[in-house]
Amino acid sequence: MFHLWEKFINNEELNTSIVREPIYESWVRCKICRIDPFSITGPKLSPGDLNLLLRDNAGLLQVATPMMEDLYQFIKGSRFVIILADREGYILKTLANSAIKGYLTRCNVIPGAYFSERYMGTNAIGTALYIDTPIQVRGEEHYLKIFHSWTGSAAPIHSPEGDIIGCLCIAGPADETHIHNLGMIVSTVNSIEKQFLIKNTIKELQELNSGLLDTLALVLDLKDNYTANHSFNVMNYSNQLAEKLNLSPEQKKELRYAALLHDIGKIGIPDSILNKPSRLTDSEYEFIKQHPVTGAKLLKKARFSPAIIAAVRHHHEYFDGRGYPDQITYKDIPLYARIITIADSFDAMTTYRVYRPPMTKEEAKEEIWLCRRKQFDPELAEIFLTCV
Ligand SMILES: [Fe+2]
Repeated sequence: MFHLWEKFINNEELNTSIVREPIYESWVRCKICRIDPFSITGPKLSPGDLNLLLRDNAGLLQVATPMMEDLYQFIKGSRFVIILADREGYILKTLANSAIKGYLTRCNVIPGAYFSERYMGTNAIGTALYIDTPIQVRGEEHYLKIFHSWTGSAAPIHSPEGDIIGCLCIAGPADETHIHNLGMIVSTVNSIEKQFLIKNTIKELQELNSGLLDTLALVLDLKDNYTANHSFNVMNYSNQLAEKLNLSPEQKKELRYAALLHDIGKIGIPDSILNKPSRLTDSEYEFIKQHPVTGAKLLKKARFSPAIIAAVRHHHEYFDGRGYPDQITYKDIPLYARIITIADSFDAMTTYRVYRPPMTKEEAKEEIWLCRRKQFDPELAEIFLTCV
């Protein structure tokens, strides 16, 4: 093979049928780009630019890294290196035995190095990206002489939409490489692409789910004449308190769902009771008091998390135990329920009701302050008053 490469480099007559077609075409591109086969001409990113590149490719790194580590277990201790590059051919990450790190640095196989065919000539990463097909580039098929002792096997990685988002490569000594290396890479890239597809599907389902929850809350707010936007207001106030409490993203998500759906049990209350302008009878009031229990049952059927179900069931409990439905007290009342009850009361007080005008924010804050310890968790009430 070496003499074929040499003839090509020296512009001598060459039997092109002996050189594999994608390799020959790549050599031609290299010649057009005037690549010097005897030096490494590819640019290298500065540490700052490399950090930006890693940040831009955080999603790819997150999905690909565990799979690269699995693959690395098979080559641990050998002279092979696994390389992840971005869609342009910039190296993002390498996994290799520390004994060959010095050699890799001399060959420029380090994060931030640019392995585009345009600068590094025919090579597995650059050529796979250019032809958008997995390829093994063996020994002297490399355009740069420094890589003649190497064989690289690389496959481009595609997004679920079909765009190239990166490239995975395994490279090592040419005399130790097998065609199976390319199979290993293709199979790992397939797993990475499937993982992206799963992530996308989960995101779409979450968006759909979130849209359905919004619709459910809207239906409820429409049913109750006096409480347009109440569910969304309670969610927003709860969210403000959650921010101050530094809840985790997962906790914040659960709290948002619970706050949005806290009154969902009212869906079973007849309009004649729910929207009655005059005073409710005792039995009507007892009926309304069932809504946290009904809501919790509905959410249990819909398989919401136990924390969300508990928050909905207990959002009318009082801190001193005089609430409903279970008359539990203090910290026995779940945190989400203690938050929602403050947000719920504040929104109810500051919005219009047929039987009274809305309170000003200051009046409602005064009321929350007076009812801390009795109705509300005093610590949460104090924090809430700093954020509204
Ligand atoms: Fe309620």
